[in-house]
Amino acid sequence: MTKANRSFPCGNFYVTTPIYYVNDKPHIGHAYTSIVTDVFARFLALDGNNVKFTTGTDEHGQKILCSAEKNNISPKEFVDRNSNFFLSLMEALNINYSDFIRTTESRHKRAVQYLWQELEKKGFIYLGKYSGWYAERDEAFYAESEISEGKASTGAPVVWMEEESYFFKLSAFTEKLLDFYKENPEFIQPKGKFNEVVSFVKTGLKDLSVSRSNVTWGIPVPGNEKHTIYVWLDALTNYLSSTGYPDINGTQYKDFWQRANKSGKILHFIGKDILRFHAVYWPAFLMAAELPLPTQIMAHGWWTNNGEKISKSLGNIIDPLALIGQYDLDSLRYFLLKEMPFGNDGNFCEESFKKRVNAELANNIGNLVQRTLILIVNNCENSALKEAKLDELPAYAYEIFQKYKENIYQFKFQEALENIQEIGRKANEYIDLKAPWKLAKTNKTNNKGNKEDLAETNSTLNSILFNLAESIRVIGIMLQPFVPQAAAKILDALNIPSEARSFLYTKGNNEIALKLIKAPLPIFKKYL
Ligand code: MSP
Repeated sequence: MTKANRSFPCGNFYVTTPIYYVNDKPHIGHAYTSIVTDVFARFLALDGNNVKFTTGTDEHGQKILCSAEKNNISPKEFVDRNSNFFLSLMEALNINYSDFIRTTESRHKRAVQYLWQELEKKGFIYLGKYSGWYAERDEAFYAESEISEGKASTGAPVVWMEEESYFFKLSAFTEKLLDFYKENPEFIQPKGKFNEVVSFVKTGLKDLSVSRSNVTWGIPVPGNEKHTIYVWLDALTNYLSSTGYPDINGTQYKDFWQRANKSGKILHFIGKDILRFHAVYWPAFLMAAELPLPTQIMAHGWWTNNGEKISKSLGNIIDPLALIGQYDLDSLRYFLLKEMPFGNDGNFCEESFKKRVNAELANNIGNLVQRTLILIVNNCENSALKEAKLDELPAYAYEIFQKYKENIYQFKFQEALENIQEIGRKANEYIDLKAPWKLAKTNKTNNKGNKEDLAETNSTLNSILFNLAESIRVIGIMLQPFVPQAAAKILDALNIPSEARSFLYTKGNNEIALKLIKAPLPIFKKYL
């Protein structure tokens, strides 16, 4: 993703999605994490920031080996095939990532092994014996207190394991992490999740087993090939390997890990289920390696399907590709961000989906754009463009735009979309009140009349349509991160050049030439 405009105050932002397990088919949860991150990354770029956006696939571990065996193919063939499903999902969702990383790539293996050696050199890794509860499903270890009836608190079945294992001295980081959270109260979003993490760390951290001797499908421990590196240490390192680590003198690392940590931001978007790994283990690994830490961990909620937890065993997985086929991508992107406040859980229900996109996209925004632009095309083609005066409608749009920006910087995507709706409602009230079609009619029936009257009607009509077009331009710019294709159709119809679509151009840029406006292609569909 490139810089939107050089004259902006420009910050370096590095945003990431979790890397997806390749043993699952992509579902609505994966789609949501990717879309939220994409919206934020597009927003940052439009606001003039230098953005790197990494996504990818998590391909090692016992679970994946078992899935490959079940499919009668080699693990390599299995991960190649399934990683492609996620790559295709990113294309289908119009995710504007800058890097798609796979944990089976050599650049990643090199980064993980290097980080391991750093941790070892600094005295944070030792060989010991592991005995405890392990859940293969979560690829995680659990304390006795977290187990009941043979299951971890996540519901995953656990088994007692005893084996030789390398350990990471996580216990040495309890106080350091608590100090860090205290100094960085914004580190975990939303706030409720922050408190959960702090309480967990306060109970005291135990050393973490970070190698497995009976899992062959993984990155070998340097110097002891009998062991492979624990999948979470492997997976979390993707955020570094994508920046070129261990080449700490490379520009990617410098811009997006070192500098972003100081004068920009490193933001990990994740689901709430993997918060502990990102907010406890990951900063501890980085502290141990004396590397900069991410700025914020953004934990979103979970989708349910008509009120039920989504799971393979319940057979209620929602396939995002099927939804895009049945409806359209921008409607799905819009719905996912408008329906569920970031951080809360949300329910996916097709009836609510149709109701919402029909009312908010097709009616409020779509109709406004269609009726305004058609009036312009039918009435303004021959009129010379006069300097129309901006009235209260664009003034309102400019003001709301500022709120929208603040909202998105605070990850309030739902409110930001409501801001766009507010401008749409105001513009619809304006058009109903001013009734420009009446002026257009007078203009046509009066064309034998007095020249001055005609000129005056013309200029009033032009002015109303200009103010509407200007507000629609602002709506189009604001819609871009959320519904990029629909926003482009609106801005194309208004004849706004692609270099004038960033947030630098949201205020009073009197650049709309009414006579160059085209009737838009259909923008939003209505669903029965
Ligand atoms: N591979 C790990 C992440 C490693 S990151 C260093 C992983 N992968 S995952 O494929 O299981 O999950 C990826 C993301 O999808 C997580 O953020 C998870 O929260 C999200 N979702 C999975 N199901 C979901 C819902 N039903 N609703 C919303 N998001 C959910 O975890």
